[in-house]
Amino acid sequence: MIEIIITAVWLMLPAYLPNSMAAVFGGGRPIDGGRTMSDGRRMLGDGKTWRGLIAGTICGMLLGLLQMYYLSRSSSIFGVELPSFGEGMGALLVIFTLSFGSLLGDMSMSYFKRRMGYKRGAALPGVDQLDFVMGAWLLTLIASPAWFLGNFTSGIVLTLLIITPLLHFVTNVVGYFIGVKNEPW
Ligand code: CTP
Ligand code: MG
Repeated sequence: MIEIIITAVWLMLPAYLPNSMAAVFGGGRPIDGGRTMSDGRRMLGDGKTWRGLIAGTICGMLLGLLQMYYLSRSSSIFGVELPSFGEGMGALLVIFTLSFGSLLGDMSMSYFKRRMGYKRGAALPGVDQLDFVMGAWLLTLIASPAWFLGNFTSGIVLTLLIITPLLHFVTNVVGYFIGVKNEPW
């Protein structure tokens, strides 16, 4: 039980970090350039910025590189055998798609939230907690299918679907109280 949680979190760390780092470093020019759609609402909104996207992706990748460095020295943590992101360029691609994909998932959902009339920051339970997970999985599945299917087994996927909303809730409450998030979700 503890073992599968550690393995799952380890695999997802490069996808978990970008969202919080986007909140820390985000701001400035919105990705949609301020454009509104024919429904009169913003395409994505001011909550999706270039700075957040780029800084978030870089932070997620740096964490992934740190994990690769750790793996080069040790193959386990707390006695749990750790999975690797692959070898060489393949591993870099996996780290990139986990990181960038998570922000892409979050951004796609902002698009649909605006179309449904939800304002920036409005809570959409379930979606807010899992959109970035879906984005990271989908992009990684497309780019590295063999690695993805070999590592994200049904047990790992199920574990992540349960623990991610809990982790998301905790980090967002922390983010709210230290002032980088406007809402605690
Ligand atoms: N952020 C950013 N760029 C991104 C993603 C996030 O700058 N690509 C920053 C924004 O400052 C945003 C904060 O991180 O307000 C929190 O992200 P999120 O909760 O996803 O954005 P919301 O403001 O809630 O907007 P939305 O309703 O579109 O999700
Ligand atoms: Mg939000």
